[in-house]
Amino acid sequence: MRTQVGIIGAGPAGLLLSHLLHLQGIDSVVLESRSREQIESTIRAGVLEQGTVDLLTETGVGERMKAEGALHHGFELAFEGKRRRLDLTGLTGKSITVYAQHEVIKDLVAARIAAQGALHFEVSDVSLHDVESSKPGIRYRHQGEARELHCDFIIGCDGAQGVSRNAIPEALRRDYQRVYPFAWFGILVEAPPTSDELIYARHERGFALVSTRSHDVQRMYFQCDPEDSVDHWSDDRIWAEMHARVDSDEGHKVIEGKIFRKNIIGMRSFVSTTMQHGRLFLAGDAAHIVPPTGAKGLNLAVSDVRVLSEALRGFYKNDRIDLLDRYSETALKRIWRAEHFSYWMTRMMHRLDDASPFEQQLQVAELEYVTTSRSAAMSMAENYVGTAPV
Ligand code: FAD
Ligand code: DHB
Repeated sequence: MRTQVGIIGAGPAGLLLSHLLHLQGIDSVVLESRSREQIESTIRAGVLEQGTVDLLTETGVGERMKAEGALHHGFELAFEGKRRRLDLTGLTGKSITVYAQHEVIKDLVAARIAAQGALHFEVSDVSLHDVESSKPGIRYRHQGEARELHCDFIIGCDGAQGVSRNAIPEALRRDYQRVYPFAWFGILVEAPPTSDELIYARHERGFALVSTRSHDVQRMYFQCDPEDSVDHWSDDRIWAEMHARVDSDEGHKVIEGKIFRKNIIGMRSFVSTTMQHGRLFLAGDAAHIVPPTGAKGLNLAVSDVRVLSEALRGFYKNDRIDLLDRYSETALKRIWRAEHFSYWMTRMMHRLDDASPFEQQLQVAELEYVTTSRSAAMSMAENYVGTAPV
């Protein structure tokens, strides 16, 4: 089989890239190790920056998101028993949309299938070949048969556990990493929303986040030990912890409901450079991870493929190689900004077991600052809604 661009992984990065290339008349094949049902039901991100929403809308895959997603103009910071609002739109003119990642996946899969795009699920034994030549290939197994996809470019969109990154020789790679000694316990709850906007809470017992999915399903998280197990947490224990961390002295209370999903999510910061080698390019979690606090991961995957689709268009339509040559350098500017923001917000909001009482007071001082100083609030808001596309 032959195509122009071979894409490994049908997450937001791989599917959106395939969609953007199709709109520019460039052929691609997407190879995914999981089933369609699995990718359409994995619960992950929820916050889309305005730039992400605009891109999905402009490229014709935003209809359901517009109808079912919720537009948010701010969020709340809860600390020291109080709640303070960050007015995202007042400060930046921009907003965010809460719309689950697996809904974005469903919309992109539907668009690729409607356009008769090649999307192969449940492939295995994926390996990359000849990435340094102008005729690279991907070998894999599908429906019991060994296959090979010949292409001009290979794009590794296979997430944090994928195989693509390892096709860049170790001698040319530099990895940067920070693993955090805490995790998030995530729950899905049948309940009405606790608040009109997201609540990020810092408490001496640990971080908590109240998010939403719809008028009757809510998404919440609280900081836990990465070695903990969901079996140790009864519903009563979870609600006691959420109330302790989020309820305010001003009378706001988390609204309880039936918990129907529980999972524990590890947290790390990671950047792998370079993001390209020969005819191989990496995008999204395959090259970088952020802790979920700043809600940046999916949005970074989108901004990578925006840059990459422009560079591939330059190659196919205008014989330009310079945009491709500069891909890693261009994408990394935004990636490092988001890495810093996610790290900063994580450090400000979480219980850090090695923090001295002095450092704990600094966390509170910083929260006081971002909720009282317009310039500090602006800095947090502009990062949260997403810095300008590169
Ligand atoms: P992935 O979504 O990981 O997709 C990679 C795909 O490749 C997968 O489908 C995988 O099955 C497939 N694959 C892997 N290996 C192979 C192989 N060898 N061959 C073929 N296919 C392969 N981000 C935000 O922006 N906002 C948020 O609010 C947010 N909240 C989050 C909350 C949680 C709890 C978590 C866990 C993450 C959150 N994120 C958030 C991060 C976001 O979910 C990820 O950054 C995003 O999924 C990255 O997309 P991707 O396409 O790069 O990778
Ligand atoms: C959600 C996830 C996040 O990481 C975040 O910062 C905000 C919201 C969510 O799943 O809704």
